[in-house]
Order: sequence, then structure tokens, then C-alpha cells
Amino acid sequence: MDLSFKRHRRLRKSKAIRNLVRETHLHTEDLIYPIFVTEGTNVKNEVPSMPNVFQWSLDLLDEEVQSVVDLQIEAVIVFGVPNEKDDVGSSAYDEEGIVQRAIRQIKQNHPELTVIADTCLCQFTDHGHCGVIEGGTIVNDTTLDLLAKTAISQAKAGADIIAPSNMMDGFVVAIRTGLDQAGYEDIPIMSYAVKYSSAFYGPFRDAAHSSPKFGDRKTYQMDPANRLEAIREAQSDLEEGADFFIVKPALSYLDIIREVKNDVGAPVVAYNVSGEYSMVKAASEQGWINEKEIVLEKLISMKRAGADLILTYHAKDVANWLREER
Ligand code: PBG
Ligand code: ZN
Repeated sequence: MDLSFKRHRRLRKSKAIRNLVRETHLHTEDLIYPIFVTEGTNVKNEVPSMPNVFQWSLDLLDEEVQSVVDLQIEAVIVFGVPNEKDDVGSSAYDEEGIVQRAIRQIKQNHPELTVIADTCLCQFTDHGHCGVIEGGTIVNDTTLDLLAKTAISQAKAGADIIAPSNMMDGFVVAIRTGLDQAGYEDIPIMSYAVKYSSAFYGPFRDAAHSSPKFGDRKTYQMDPANRLEAIREAQSDLEEGADFFIVKPALSYLDIIREVKNDVGAPVVAYNVSGEYSMVKAASEQGWINEKEIVLEKLISMKRAGADLILTYHAKDVANWLREER
């Protein structure tokens, strides 16, 4: 018998050899942790559809931020859950808004932590859409001014990175121009350039109280069936001045992460969204899957697909697990 066939198993023989030839690595520095901030005092509300994810009032917020810092996670993204909503989302660009106050507080207590501001209007509008409504439609260009105002107020509060998520056309150039004119040329834009209209956002809308009161987001978020459009979205955002961009959701869109990574020259962030988190939590609470192994496999697949960074509600657990492995 000719036994000269290729033996792949030699490099799988031991953990040490497997580690030597491993192609993809997951590091704590790859992780961005989302934090929900809300008004009031003494609030630490668990989101029903997202076990172990909380809405925090500012007096308790430091408990959460400190735990992130202790785990050596280097970046958080802040989402606001305001008390006041109106038709133009005024509390999104109020200097005393919940997000602005939260950013100031975090940066004051932890100047070394990178604070990313999600820039959108849907949590702040009474109709729950990401833009201004005129005659029943979400109007693009009127919304752009409000987004620029929101981004400037977040930068003023101390945000290190602006992450516009609202999917109006031209939002990057509007925000870039606004930031530059206000003297924030050095603040990077992490654009949610490739954001699909997805059922995987369901639990987030519980967490952020941001469900649209009528209709859906299909006229501004992308159709899950489209691939080439993702490249066009990423390219136009980079041309408009985005520094890096997000693909969202992640798990059902690994092909898109790879595609934009190959075609568009900028760091790619995978957003492992709320529904992806909740499914894993629910199944592991039932004892049907091994949470740690599933989560690490999920995240390594995002890195393998080409993600440079991963925004994930699992970040604290992952940082803990990575620490245990060392
Ligand atoms: C809204 C926004 C959404 C998410 C972040 N910002 C979704 C949406 O309702 O369109 C989703 C995050 C998640 O599901 O984890 N601009
Ligand atoms: Zn929005």
C-alpha cells in the first residue's frame, strides 16, 4: 500500500502544535462592549430578552465601567435610553442628554477607556424611526443636520469615536463636515456602513426602547438578500470620510464581512447583535449548548471571516474566558 498521502493530522496532534499553526486569534483588545445608560437613580434594570445585560443609571454606571476596565477591555459603545422623546429626537443632541452626561462621566473616571458614541435618533424620537418624518416618510437630508449636531455634542462630551448607525445617505460626510467645523478633525468615524434590516435586532429594541411605532426600517436599512450593495455602501462611506466601518449583524453575514474586507481597504468591525446574543443565552440556560464553547467559536468565525474588531454583548464573558486560558 502506498502510504505517502498527505497527513493533515500531524499538525493536530497536540494542543501545543495546534496552537503553533492556528491561523486566527481572538484577543481581549478585539472586543467592544455595549453599555445602555438611562435616567433616574439606582437603576440597574436587566433587559428581559438579554440576560445579564442591564440599563444603568449614572449613579451606578461606574460599577459596570469598572468591571470592563478590570477585564482589560479597551472600548465601550454607549447607547442612551432617554426619558424625553419628541418628533425630532431633541434629547439626542442635548448637551445635558443622557448619552452626553454618561460620556463625560466615563471619560472623567476612566480617561484611558475608549468611548464610542452610537449616533442615531431612534431611541430619542417618539415615533422610533432613525430619521425625521415628513408626510409619512423618513426624510433623508433634514435628518443629516440633526445627526451632525448629535455627533458634535457627543464629541464635545468627550467621545473618542463617533459611530453613526442611522443609514441615511450622506450621513458620514454630514457628520465629518460638522465635526471638522467644530474643531474635531481628529475624531474618527466608525460608520455602520453595512447595516441590514434584520430581525436579529429585536432584543436591542427592548433594551433601548427604540422600536418603530409604525412601519419598519426597510426603506433605509439594507435588504438581507444583497451582497454587492454592501460593497457600494462601504465604499461610499469611506469616500465620504469614514475611518472604519461596521457590518451588522455578524453571524448570518460572515460572507459579507469577508467580501468587504477583501474589497475595501479599512478595518472592519463585526457587530454581534442582540438577537445573536439572546439565542445563545436562551439555549445555554436550557443546558442545550455549551455557552463558552459556542461563543468562542462564533467570535473566532467572525475574526476568520475578516473582522478586525467585534462589538459584542459577550465581551465581558469572553475576556474572562480568555484570561482563564492563559
Ligand atoms: C439603531 C440601532 C440598532 C442597533 C444598534 N443601533 C438596531 C435597529 O433598531 O435598527 C442594533 C443592535 C443590536 O441588535 O444589538 N440605530
Ligand atoms: Zn436608529
